[in-house]
Amino acid sequence: MQEQKKGSFIVFEGIDGSGKSTQIQLLKNRLAGLGVPFYSTFEPTDSPIGSLIHQIFTGRILSDNKVVAALFAADRLDHLLNPTNGIYAKVMSGVSVISDRYYFSSYAYHSVDMPMDWVVTANSPCAQLLRATATVFIDVDPGDAIGRIAKTRSQLELFETRERLVSVREKYFEAFEKYRDAENILIVDGGKDPEVLAEEIWEKISGYFL
Ligand code: TYD
Repeated sequence: MQEQKKGSFIVFEGIDGSGKSTQIQLLKNRLAGLGVPFYSTFEPTDSPIGSLIHQIFTGRILSDNKVVAALFAADRLDHLLNPTNGIYAKVMSGVSVISDRYYFSSYAYHSVDMPMDWVVTANSPCAQLLRATATVFIDVDPGDAIGRIAKTRSQLELFETRERLVSVREKYFEAFEKYRDAENILIVDGGKDPEVLAEEIWEKISGYFL
């Protein structure tokens, strides 16, 4: 019997306000235009575990950052293994999947509050099941990122967010350095014009879809 060819799994990462959503949309438009089949998804998911995370983020449920870190690992495992729409089965059956965030988000966002090794261990079942074919990191200056998200936040929140984004960006780079042998990480300059950047990203990843 011929072995089923696996689909590609392309992950987009970046700090909040990095322009990740725009780049994902431009990639989806391009793939749709070319008639290339794909499945697009995101984390935190819209599953019951993901919605618990959203409720904690919006303050409707009170919790601790350590709990959030553990919930993200659970949400991610469900994202992979859910019997209805788990992405592990999709990739194995030959479907290419694009995800807005995966475990590097956890490595970066949660190792600000606790040791990165804990986060990596909590996410190791996910890494063992499925590593990204490529992780596209859209790198932006945290100050510029704040500018993009400023419209929805107060001054105080913005200050707190900037400090946090600076740390999160540093943690991303720490994780990329640590795991560069096991992972395929593509760092791109998010300060560029979105259309120009989309072109550059496409040049790097088109081979995974065509
Ligand atoms: P989301 O509404 O998806 O924002 P964005 O469009 O910026 O991705 O919320 C994602 C937030 O959740 C973002 O601030 C990063 C955070 N996050 C974690 O803290 N840990 C994780 O493992 C993931 C996937 C996201």
